[in-house]
Amino acid sequence: LRDRAPIVAIDGPAGAGKSTVARQVARALGLLYLDTGAMYRAVTWLVLQSGLALDDEVGIAELVSRASIDLTPTEVWINEQNVTQAIRSIEVTSRVSAISAQRAVRRELVKQQQQWGNKGGIVAEGRDIGTHVFPNAELKIFLTASVQERARRRQQDFSVQGEQSVSLQQLERDISERDRADSNRSISPLRKAPDAIEIQSDRLSIAEVTERIVNLYQQKVMTS
Ligand code: DC
Repeated sequence: LRDRAPIVAIDGPAGAGKSTVARQVARALGLLYLDTGAMYRAVTWLVLQSGLALDDEVGIAELVSRASIDLTPTEVWINEQNVTQAIRSIEVTSRVSAISAQRAVRRELVKQQQQWGNKGGIVAEGRDIGTHVFPNAELKIFLTASVQERARRRQQDFSVQGEQSVSLQQLERDISERDRADSNRSISPLRKAPDAIEIQSDRLSIAEVTERIVNLYQQKVMTS
C-alpha cells in the first residue's frame, strides 16, 4: 500500500507545452496541478522589485526565505501580491534562469514543493521534478520538441495574444539560450530521469500528448 496518493512528474525544456499538458492531465485524472516554474518566476519578480543585484546571492537567499508563495488553480501570489500576469513578462522570463540557478533559491523552493506535494495526488511540472523534487513519482514524463517547433509555437502564442511579432530566428535563439542555461547549471540541471518516458511532441497535438500520458497513468499507476 502506498503512503500517499500518486504523483505524476512532467519535466522538459522551455516551450515544449508542459504547462498546458500538465493542466489537462491533472483535470482528466482529478489531480492537483503544481507549476514549479511559476514559483521560480514569482521569486524572480520579487528580486527585480526589491532592487537587489541579481548576483547578490546572500540578499536573495534572505528575501526568498521570508517570502510566502501561494498557488491557486488559476493564480500565483507572492507576499500577498497577485503576480499571475507579471511573472510572464519578458523581463522576468529573461532573468529567471539566473535566479533559479542559485543554490539557496532552489533549496527553499524545492522544500516548499515537497511540502505542497507530500500527500500526493498531484501533477508537478518543471525541470527537476523526476530527478530531484519527487524522485519516487509513480509516473515520470520527459516532454520535448525541437527548438524550431517550440519557436513556432511561441510565435503563434504571441500572435494569438495580439503582441507584436518577434522573428522566428530571435525566438529560436532565446529558446536555445534558456535550454543551455537550464541544462548546464551545476545544481539540478534539466535532465531526463533514467526512468522517465520521453514524449517528442513535434507532430502531436496537445490533446494527443495528454491522451498518451493519461493512458500511461492508467496502465502504470492505476493497475499497480
Ligand atoms: O517552465 P517555466 O518557463 O515557467 O520555467 C521558468 C524557469 O524556471 C526556467 O527557465 C527554469 C526554471 N525552473 C527550474 O529551474 N526548475 C523547475 N523545476 C522549474 C523551472
